[in-house]
Amino acid sequence: MSFSMSRRQFAATSAALSLASLVPSGLFGDVSNSRRVVIRANSEIGLVRPEFHGQFAEHLGSCVYGGIWVGKDSPIPNINGYRREVVDYLRELGVPVLRWPGGCFADDYHWRDGVGPAAQRPKRVNIHWGGYVEDNSFGTHEFIAFCRLIGAEPYLAGNVGSGSPAEMRQWVEYCNYPSGSSLAEERAANGSPEPFHVRYWGVGNESWGCGGAMDPEGYADLFRRFGVYLRASHFGGTRPFLVASGPNRNDARWSRGVMDGMRPRMQPDGFSMHYYENGASAPTEFTPETMNAQLARFADMEQAIVQQRALLNGYDHGDSIGLIVDEWGVWDRMIPEEERNYGRLWQQSTMRSAVGAGLGLNIFNRQADKLFMCNIAQIVNVLQSLLLTDGPEGRHCIRTTTYYAFMLFKPHRAKTAVRVETEDSSPLDLSASASKDDREMVVSLVNPRYDLDMNVECRIEDARLTQATAQILHDADYNACNTFDHPDRITLKDHPVHVTTTGLQLDLPRLSVVTVRAALG
Ligand code: AHR
Repeated sequence: MSFSMSRRQFAATSAALSLASLVPSGLFGDVSNSRRVVIRANSEIGLVRPEFHGQFAEHLGSCVYGGIWVGKDSPIPNINGYRREVVDYLRELGVPVLRWPGGCFADDYHWRDGVGPAAQRPKRVNIHWGGYVEDNSFGTHEFIAFCRLIGAEPYLAGNVGSGSPAEMRQWVEYCNYPSGSSLAEERAANGSPEPFHVRYWGVGNESWGCGGAMDPEGYADLFRRFGVYLRASHFGGTRPFLVASGPNRNDARWSRGVMDGMRPRMQPDGFSMHYYENGASAPTEFTPETMNAQLARFADMEQAIVQQRALLNGYDHGDSIGLIVDEWGVWDRMIPEEERNYGRLWQQSTMRSAVGAGLGLNIFNRQADKLFMCNIAQIVNVLQSLLLTDGPEGRHCIRTTTYYAFMLFKPHRAKTAVRVETEDSSPLDLSASASKDDREMVVSLVNPRYDLDMNVECRIEDARLTQATAQILHDADYNACNTFDHPDRITLKDHPVHVTTTGLQLDLPRLSVVTVRAALG
């Protein structure tokens, strides 16, 4: 939850320097639009792990096939089969970690199907996402090579629902054993003598649902069983970091059931929570009511992070388990024609979506001490994606509003999050977060209101700013988006910000995400 205080408390704890005394009257218009924020530079929360900006790619719709992977012989410009624009845009953004191959797909995926000569790989049916024939041309080697190309750390989701401990342990050996075993030799023969050094391993996905419809006790038994063999698969200096299937949203019953079934030294390293912010409208047809209902769900996610963290901490050594928001983002009502043309769960990203991304990323900064990793769903073409293509055959590739929201938060990576206090903690008011290192303070502000332009005064405690620059992502129309015809309708723009004797002042128009980078004196 955001650390907030009432207007009265704010006035009492703030040095009595009013906005009016700092700027000529009238500069910021209606004072009822003014918002005050206190940033406590010495009150450190924790590291903004770059992994908070992680991504997820599933064999679903046109995320992998046609999105990331077009094949080496495609007329679409590509680098060894990877869509060139996807590679270029993701490199520019930087993808700290990429989770694959699902999602629901993971618990029906058998890794052996995706190695060896592509022409000889078996054809399977993707039962979760439309019953199409999966030719397995994108497998482990193709995924790892993509990660290397964009600079992402690979995160493999293993099959618990329909797989076995032996199958998953062999996948670990195939990936990580340096040389000499038959599996390592097979990897070398398939083109990769060097081990892949995969550290992150998901032990099932949504095991309460598409990953086997288990009860938490049954899943805990399975996790321990898989864990015995996976933990021992500590090859070539890469210790597997095992991620357990955690709750849907804030489901405490699931989390307690799983944790009660753990034993000392058998606990997971990570605990995967899924938190989608569902919306009742199609992406470009939101109303103020449906938008507000969806954006308000981000506050519920923040509460879930706080409560699930506390739940884990209640167990012996529970505080060493990394809480992972493994799938998150806005999940709108799909448009059947778009799904037909462009693939399952293809979803436009609008200014509303970008505001949602900003709210989520602010939460991760504010709860930096409680989180290990967060992966938005999904990287290309599916749900709240960073990039969209016009179908698997389409030549267009555009950066979505969500891509630009992530760009705005990039300067926070590897900085230390510090406490920020806002006057109003309601889910649909100003959202703020800040981080710093020795030289710079980074402040991100989100105005989720569609009907109110704000004027923001940030008072910085325990630090002095010398100069600042800001960038903004904004459109007054919550349904506005980047399209194949107008790919640059909503992009980052420079935005005025004033350094004052006490901090910063800036305008925050309705529906905007802003990041300020300020030099520390
Ligand atoms: O991201 C789409 C789906 O949502 C995933 O396959 C599943 O894990 C979740 O229910």
